[in-house]
Amino acid sequence: KKTALIMAGGRGERFWPRSRKHMPKQFLSLTDDGKTMIQLTVERIRPLVELEDIYIATNKDYKPLVLEQLPGIPEENILCEPIGRNTAPCIGLGAIHIAKKYEDALMMVLPSDHLIKYNTMFVNTLSEGCAVAEKGANLVTIGITPDYPETGYGYIKFNSDKTDGQAYEVERFVEKPSLEVAKEYLATEEYLWNSGMFVWKISTILDNLKKYMGSTYEGLMKIKDAIGTPEEDIVLENIFPTFQSESIDYGIMEKASNIYILPGVFGWDDVGSWLAVGRIKKSNENGNVVNGNIITINSKNNIIEGSQKLIATVGIEDLIIVDTEDATLICNKNSAGDIKKVLENLKICN
Ligand code: GDD
Ligand code: MG
Repeated sequence: KKTALIMAGGRGERFWPRSRKHMPKQFLSLTDDGKTMIQLTVERIRPLVELEDIYIATNKDYKPLVLEQLPGIPEENILCEPIGRNTAPCIGLGAIHIAKKYEDALMMVLPSDHLIKYNTMFVNTLSEGCAVAEKGANLVTIGITPDYPETGYGYIKFNSDKTDGQAYEVERFVEKPSLEVAKEYLATEEYLWNSGMFVWKISTILDNLKKYMGSTYEGLMKIKDAIGTPEEDIVLENIFPTFQSESIDYGIMEKASNIYILPGVFGWDDVGSWLAVGRIKKSNENGNVVNGNIITINSKNNIIEGSQKLIATVGIEDLIIVDTEDATLICNKNSAGDIKKVLENLKICN
């Protein structure tokens, strides 16, 4: 049985001011087709998984958004976290719900806020991932060939001699290295980026949670026992916030053995900042990517998103300009990663 957990509890802070606390990135449309990122995520995985086997883990505040944007997903498959505890508890919560329904099953774990260009190749890769995961107690990752020393990703060193079908054995998983280390890894050509997508059996991930995150595992088992009982919500409200905030990458992947990697060649973009919009959308002849009522004169290589107002630029270069009803961002392209800092200074505006 193939199931999927879509992780949709992130805040998308680097997409401020379009991404907001009440409407983060995964619920926005950044492409020209008008579909939101989470809708695209579900659509992409549908050839492999039935709607009734797709689970969405998110903050309880976003439940109405999920219901509205994904009317085909059964309401009981929307798993509501009382508070964000990062991806390890989120994945654990998904795993126990799936375990309650099926004795054991394959679980694909997918971020809700990535874009993929070639869906058929994506489906083929995940399908291979399922085959590798099914064969044993394997943790399967999908790797992307790196092209610059990104420090916000996980790096995976694989053993190119030891393959299992199309998958390689993983030697080392290093989450978010320093710039120096990332540069080193890039130069060796022996590392792939972790795409943040995983495939494993429910029994495999639960065993790993038990081994490396024991107290979280125990809490999860209590939550599991309460699923379907009148105490379900109160048990979740009481126990989930006690979990240590930990990503699956630090909590399990850096420590576990039996990890495999499948290279993914399907036009992956994790849409990490406004610069991604410049990559995804077509630019005009001056390299400007514009959306809205915009006039550009002697301006080049800018990303400009308007809302109601007319925006006119004259003689500017390499800027990101995003106008919304109550906030406007003007940012140098080189500083796109620092937009989070605005929010630290300005909690109210988020
Ligand atoms: N439900 C839920 N709850 N979802 C969450 C939570 C949470 O507490 N925290 C994050 N998510 C969701 C995000 O919405 C996103 O879709 C996904 O989980 C991954 O979280 P990020 O916060 O975006 O992780 P990251 O970008 O720092 O790193 C991960 O992704 C990289 C590739 O994009 C890691 O897996 C890296 O190793 C990887 O390279
Ligand atoms: Mg991310």
